[in-house]
Amino acid sequence: MSVNESSRTPTTNGEIQGGGKSVHEQMRHDHLITSKQLSRADIETVLDHAAEIDADRSAFADRHADKLLGLLFFEPSTRTKMSFETAMKRLGGDIVDMGAVESSSVTKGETLADTVRVIEGYTDALVLRHPKQGAATMAGEFVDVPLLNAGDGAGHHPTQTLLDLYTIRENAGLDDLTIGIMGDLKYGRTVHSLAYALSNFDTRQHFISPESLQLPREVVYDLHQEQERVQIREHESIEEVLPSLDVLYVTRIQRERFPDENEYQQVAGKYQIDTEALETARDELTVMHPLPRVDEIAPAVDTTDHAAYFEQAHNGVPVRMALLDLLLRDGGETDE
Ligand code: NCD
Repeated sequence: MSVNESSRTPTTNGEIQGGGKSVHEQMRHDHLITSKQLSRADIETVLDHAAEIDADRSAFADRHADKLLGLLFFEPSTRTKMSFETAMKRLGGDIVDMGAVESSSVTKGETLADTVRVIEGYTDALVLRHPKQGAATMAGEFVDVPLLNAGDGAGHHPTQTLLDLYTIRENAGLDDLTIGIMGDLKYGRTVHSLAYALSNFDTRQHFISPESLQLPREVVYDLHQEQERVQIREHESIEEVLPSLDVLYVTRIQRERFPDENEYQQVAGKYQIDTEALETARDELTVMHPLPRVDEIAPAVDTTDHAAYFEQAHNGVPVRMALLDLLLRDGGETDE
C-alpha cells in the first residue's frame, strides 16, 4: 500500500518521475491483498481519514463523482459488498456489479484472469471476493487499477481488518491491548488478517479454539517473529482468559470450508458467549464479531454495553470510504 507515500507524477510516456517505476508497477503496489502489507503508518492513515470522514460525511459527497468501482463477488456477501457500494456512492461515485456467478460468463468457462482484465477496462478500482485462497494475489498480477481483496477463501480479508481496527481503536485503543480471538481460527480469514495487523501494535493476543481449528502454524510462526511487541497464547477454553480481556473477537465456524460435514458437527456450537459467561468479564470488555453470527453470541448480549458488533459493521462505510478515497485520488497522492 502506498497510501501514505510521497506523491508521484505520471509523465506522458507512462513513467513516473522520481521513483523510476512505471505507473503500471506503481499501481500494482496499490492492491490491498493481505494485511501483512499494512504498516502501522498505513493503518493510522486510513483510520485517521475514516475518523475525518465520520465527523463530516457531507464534505466528501462529491469526491469521486466520475469514478466507478467494480464489484466481483464469487462468494456470498452482505456487509462487505453493500458497505463497499454504500462507501462508493457516498463519495459521489458509482459501482458496476458482476452479479451472481451463475449469471456471469464464469459459467461459460471464463478464467478469473480474463474476467478481471475485462472489468478493469470499465472501472477505476476492483473489489474481489473469491472462494480460492490466493485468488486475489493472482488476479492482482493481471490488472493495473487498485484491486482490493474482500476475502480469498480461508486466506485474508484486509478491509474487514481495517474496520475491526477502527472499532478497537474507538473502544479500547490499539496499544497495550489484551484481545481474545475465539472460534474458527483455522479457516477464519478475518482472524488471520486481524492478527497480522495487530502485530504492528503492543498487543497480548489470546487465541481460543478447539484444537482442530487452531490458528495455522505459519501465522503463529509469523506472530512469534514480532515478539518485541506481540505476546501470543493459545487456549482451548475461554474461562481462564476472559477476565483479562479488553476485547473479545468472536467468529463463526466456517462451515462452508470444512472438507467433511462430520468434522463440522464435532465443533459446531462449542464456543458460545452469553450473558452468564460474561459475568467474569471486565465492565469495559468490548465484544466484536465480523458477522454473520450463527449461535456464537446469544442475542441477550446485544443489549449489553459489551456489544460492539453492529457498530463494527457500520464502521465498514467510513473505513471503506477512507480507503477508496486514498486509493482513487489522482495518481494515488494523499496530499490535500
Ligand atoms: C466474514 C467473511 O466473509 O470472512 N464476513 C464478513 O465479511 N463480515 C466472516 C464470516 O463469513 O464468518
